[in-house]
Amino acid sequence: MSVNKQIIKVGLLGLGTVGQGVYRILKDNADNIQRRAGIKVEIEKIMVRDTTKERGISVSQAMLTSDIKDIVNDPEIDIVVEVMGGINPTLDYVLQALNNGKSVVTANKDMVAMHGEELFSAAEANNCDLLFEASVAGGIPIIRTLKQSLAANNIEQVFGIINGTTNYMLTKMTREGSQFNDVLKEAQQKGYAEADPTADVEGYDAARKIAILASIAFNTRVTVNDVYVEGITKISAEDIAYAKELGYIIKLLGIAKYNDDGIEVRVHPTFIPEEHPLASVNDVFNAVFVKGDAVGDTMFYGQGAGELPTASAVVADIMDAARDLVRNVPGIISCTCYDNKPLKPMSESKSRFYVRTLVSDKPGVLASIALVFGNKGVSLASVIQKDAEGSTAELVLVTHNTKEENLQDALGDIRNLSCVKEIGNVIRVEG
Ligand code: NAP
Ligand code: HSE
Repeated sequence: MSVNKQIIKVGLLGLGTVGQGVYRILKDNADNIQRRAGIKVEIEKIMVRDTTKERGISVSQAMLTSDIKDIVNDPEIDIVVEVMGGINPTLDYVLQALNNGKSVVTANKDMVAMHGEELFSAAEANNCDLLFEASVAGGIPIIRTLKQSLAANNIEQVFGIINGTTNYMLTKMTREGSQFNDVLKEAQQKGYAEADPTADVEGYDAARKIAILASIAFNTRVTVNDVYVEGITKISAEDIAYAKELGYIIKLLGIAKYNDDGIEVRVHPTFIPEEHPLASVNDVFNAVFVKGDAVGDTMFYGQGAGELPTASAVVADIMDAARDLVRNVPGIISCTCYDNKPLKPMSESKSRFYVRTLVSDKPGVLASIALVFGNKGVSLASVIQKDAEGSTAELVLVTHNTKEENLQDALGDIRNLSCVKEIGNVIRVEG
């Protein structure tokens, strides 16, 4: 592209929640965007499924198309912004754009977490930018922070609350003592949780996001299939109450850690101390905690979704891509997965554990459970016992730091003890 070009033209794929936000910000903040990017940025064409649909914004009919060729084959378009979502046909459209020499900005964590390598290879082969700030934690600028602002560090840990829907639900359960199903219904009525909430409540959405963060933090390709995932569907009002009694709050965390043994990446409900900064991140807010060897602890907080917060990240990427085009250096921000650090199996990861069981209320029960833990090398830190119904007691144990494998072995044996009626829940404890 010539550096003498007067306007950078954008092709937008999708005009839904995020697409409309991008359209609005590019229009409303046009002057500052031009000054800061060093060139005027304008939307040239917008692809949607249905060009006749009523939308929340007024857009000239001439800008709309439902034919991808009108965008990827238009030599006037310099940057393609993908905010339509999904993998099929989206991946194909994005690859067509890159192969035609257009820089790409995307908010699509599903596509980046699954097909990052293929996308980056195409971007590098064609000297194009591929930017995806909005794919993790919406408006929080965490990707650029990891790639640029913290680039001097060896990153040791990245973890945080990266799914707003489940954070809203856990916040409600903590404040009101309500059960999972009641809160899910309310989250759906408010439009936070989708009609099919699986990706959020089962932790898959957070898994895609932590795979992206881990890849950047540790310069090693981590895909969603490398992430151990547990959602929040088993969290009960009882677990929340015990957490409070023990001085903790339950949050769904995406966790990525690196040490000499390798990288571990997991998503699961987690007890965190009530004084930890992440414990006070409530409702739909997201926050990401990063520990670097030079900078120490840092935390980034903000809205992880929504029209304008997400579009804020998308437009900043468009401006970066525009600046690179003006300087004639598109492709300079390339893939940072230059390393190949080993991934640790989940069985090797270590944490403390909360274990809630229903047991027979008779002498020797606690001792027999403690013996199994001891035999498997799991040391207990605290015990709470409460009467349940009749001859049943609820026994809650918190372990010291232990290997996942040892804990799972011990639980296998404890399930077989005649005095154990049920293992209610097992939740990892961090911090
Ligand atoms: P959305 O509201 O469902 O909008 C999707 C848009 O893409 C619609 O305009 C739709 O056209 C168009 N589209 C979808 N499939 C198409 C196809 N096959 N051909 C042509 N057009 C197609 O989605 P969104 O919430 O804006 O999300 C977009 C992306 O941003 C997703 O990857 C999502 O994960 C990501 N993201 C969203 C948020 C958020 O808060 N919403 C936050 C972070 C990241 P019609 O309008 O004609 O149906
Ligand atoms: N469903 C996601 C969340 C928003 O609840 O955080 C988009 O990433």
